[in-house]
Amino acid sequence: MRTSQPQTIFLKDYRVPAFLVDHVDLRFELFEDGARVHCTLAMRRNPDSDSSDKSLELDGDSLTTLESVSLDGKPLEGSAYEDRDDKLTLHEVPDQFNLGIVTWIEPQNNTRLEGLYKSSGMFCTQCEAEGFRCITYFPDRPDVMARFRTRVEADKTRYPILLSNGNDVEKGDLADGRHFVTWEDPFPKPCYLFALVAGDLLEKRDTFKTMSGRDIDLRMYVEPRNAEKCDHAMDSLKRAMRWDEEVYGREYDLDIFMIVAVDDFNMGAMENKGLNIFNSSCVLASQETATDMAFQRIESIVAHEYFHNWSGNRVTCRDWFQLSLKEGFTVFRDSCFSADVGSPTVKRIEDATMLRTAQFAEDAGPMAHPVRPESYMEITNFYTLTIYEKGSEVVGMIHTLLGPDLFRKGSDLYFERHDGQAVTTDDFVRAMEDASGRDLSQFRLWYEQSGTPELTVRDEFDDAAGIYRLTIKQSIPDTPGQTDKKPQHIPFAIGFLGAEGESLPLKLAADDADAPTDRVLELTDASHTFEFHGLSERPVPSLLRGFSAPVRVFYPWTREQLTFLMSHDSDGFNRWDAGQRLAVDVINSLVSSTDGNVDAGLVEAYRSLLADSSLDQALVAKMLQLPSEAYLIELADQPNVPAIHRARERVLAHLARSLRDELLACYHRNTLRGHYEVTPEAVARRSLRNTALAWLLHIDDEEGRTLATSQFNEADNMTDRMGALRALVNSGYEKEQEQALADFYQQWKDDPQVVEQWFAVQSGSTRTGGLRKVHELMEHPAFDWKNPNKIRSVIGVFAGQNLPAFHAEDGAGYQFLAEQVRKLDDSNPQIAARLVSPLTRWRKFAPVHGEQMKSALETVRDKSGLSRDVYEVVHKSLAGQ
Ligand code: BES
Ligand code: ZN
Repeated sequence: MRTSQPQTIFLKDYRVPAFLVDHVDLRFELFEDGARVHCTLAMRRNPDSDSSDKSLELDGDSLTTLESVSLDGKPLEGSAYEDRDDKLTLHEVPDQFNLGIVTWIEPQNNTRLEGLYKSSGMFCTQCEAEGFRCITYFPDRPDVMARFRTRVEADKTRYPILLSNGNDVEKGDLADGRHFVTWEDPFPKPCYLFALVAGDLLEKRDTFKTMSGRDIDLRMYVEPRNAEKCDHAMDSLKRAMRWDEEVYGREYDLDIFMIVAVDDFNMGAMENKGLNIFNSSCVLASQETATDMAFQRIESIVAHEYFHNWSGNRVTCRDWFQLSLKEGFTVFRDSCFSADVGSPTVKRIEDATMLRTAQFAEDAGPMAHPVRPESYMEITNFYTLTIYEKGSEVVGMIHTLLGPDLFRKGSDLYFERHDGQAVTTDDFVRAMEDASGRDLSQFRLWYEQSGTPELTVRDEFDDAAGIYRLTIKQSIPDTPGQTDKKPQHIPFAIGFLGAEGESLPLKLAADDADAPTDRVLELTDASHTFEFHGLSERPVPSLLRGFSAPVRVFYPWTREQLTFLMSHDSDGFNRWDAGQRLAVDVINSLVSSTDGNVDAGLVEAYRSLLADSSLDQALVAKMLQLPSEAYLIELADQPNVPAIHRARERVLAHLARSLRDELLACYHRNTLRGHYEVTPEAVARRSLRNTALAWLLHIDDEEGRTLATSQFNEADNMTDRMGALRALVNSGYEKEQEQALADFYQQWKDDPQVVEQWFAVQSGSTRTGGLRKVHELMEHPAFDWKNPNKIRSVIGVFAGQNLPAFHAEDGAGYQFLAEQVRKLDDSNPQIAARLVSPLTRWRKFAPVHGEQMKSALETVRDKSGLSRDVYEVVHKSLAGQ
């Protein structure tokens, strides 16, 4: 339990460590009632430190008992050190010494899931960001890198598998039915990359031959019941390993690479050196139990964690302010990988949707922070969409500005120059500059300034001269602690369409002979006017092609222009974007008026989408998705959530009624025969078919109902089974819906990953999943307060996806969430701090709702013994500005 007021930590206070650790020797004795950790550190004074302090400070957290401290083998008297709850201070130490520490900890009682804990009977660890200090006293900061040797001892029957980082160098039996394995990791690493696993696990093996011809042993460790759910992750791993060799020239560096699946895990997965640990839901899959979306997510997470071996492990972060150095870069790498192995346009649409819906919201709210923050209280609160997704966009913009070849030169230089070091985002940018000869000094503002840049675009056409002028103004809104921002360096990709939809040349000068039809304009000033020559007609501009920068664009599109772009733009992303903008416009015009009609143009646009089988079906599947409620809310000022929900539902119902025959045809046309495969084409077809089904059930179509029940009963894969179940749950067919939910649970009650999907489909349903349903699900025997996935799939999904219910008029949704956060704060503060986030944007909502949200936040604030995690989020969002 934390006793003092949470402290703020500032980037400007960074100092190099006073002491370095060359080697860490660990011995874990694992028992049922606790674990004894023997830790020996080979330490020396850091020659680069100017500190003259004789004392040594180590971090600790929740360590039950400090059993002994010794220096160069001699036990220390209690007077030689001070043992406070979060620090161990040795009053005087020599310049070089071996420090021995023995601690006793209680993994079986660790509900925070940081440090060493137990999940389904196995021991496992999570040390990022500051979990290692829950295992032993240590200088827990990423710029202290050491070689680790780890001996794990445990009962041989209960824990036949004993794992840690690196290579196993010794094993043997001990007295009392116990055994041990010793692991040695030759690469120096920060302690956040340490990992240990002990359990009764099944081992799956494979191999990979690297580009230099080395054979790597690949192993997955799972509970025996999951034996059949490993193939997809293993295949994804091999694809990722090959891709990193081909695209970045990066080869794997140890002889063994291990993946472990655990059911209780705060995050998705963790890149521990040579021993990645995954949340079961992010690694286990079979066609019967996982949807296409889960398959794709697993592929990208496996790749992400693997890619960290270079971007994060070999080259790591100097301090946690540099978190985006590894996370932003690695997300960029996994996005390119997913684009390469799947559909690039679809991947770009998914990334942009996430950014515009959730990251822009974060950037406009009370927790807004730069990609490289200046301060924090609790670092786990900064694993945000800004660090990850905006950070990835920033790397992507460097890629756009430099082009693929110079970018690769830059990444080669970065990895070579900084191998084995702990560095900063600035070091990354400098490597890109040095390799390319480009000046990125203004570009660095992307790391320093928070807030989403807004671009206002105006145009005029000079008929007589054949000149089209595009004026682009940029500004960045104020964010907490930042005002009067400077213009940023923005790559702005554009194209022009002629009246027939053809691409027009973009001539920036009158004599530009073979001008391209695609161009990246570089914006650096508050306002730019570009003149395009040689045009005989006023073009329709296609702006921010491929979402070339994480910005908002304002341009007075007419509905005709949007419909035109939707069917003619040669940039697939912008075709999709035009459709979204059109749908947003149509829905928004119905939010305030209850008797308006749905624009016939929208219906016709969707009709041609459904009819045109020559189009890329993966793109069509995306284009058929109406903008989400969350996105519509994000775009609105003082949004009225129930009104937005009703308007969107009306448009959906109108589309479904008008296009009933086309939907049925689409449904049947996309029925797949033959065996299940996760190719972009097959995924697109299942997605189209399930969208058609969902729309038909939205209007309670009788034929749709028959199709849904037979699809539910006959499906040979989870995508189709879940598609049918979701359609039924969101329909008025109560009998069929109850039957399907009961059958589904009966069939899958022993599979936690499937039960989580069963929870989510119910609590996320705006038709049947109100607060009463959520309470009912929380009473269900499969619900478990100790398991983050269950909390996310019931409470998280309710607050994040069931928006009309969460924002119900009486404020009950807000009070409910506040109660759950207060309760969870005692057992798992990390998850509690994430769960509270939907309440933090109270200022955005209309006065009555905003006040209700605020008072819910206040009840969280007033809880006694509030964790630092929740404290930071709640106090920052209540703070006046
Ligand atoms: N290093 C993180 C895991 C992590 C996050 C540890 C926060 C401690 C605190 C890992 O590489 C990661 O980023 N995982 C993501 C998934 C990824 C595909 C973006 C996650 O866990 O959500
Ligand atoms: Zn990561």
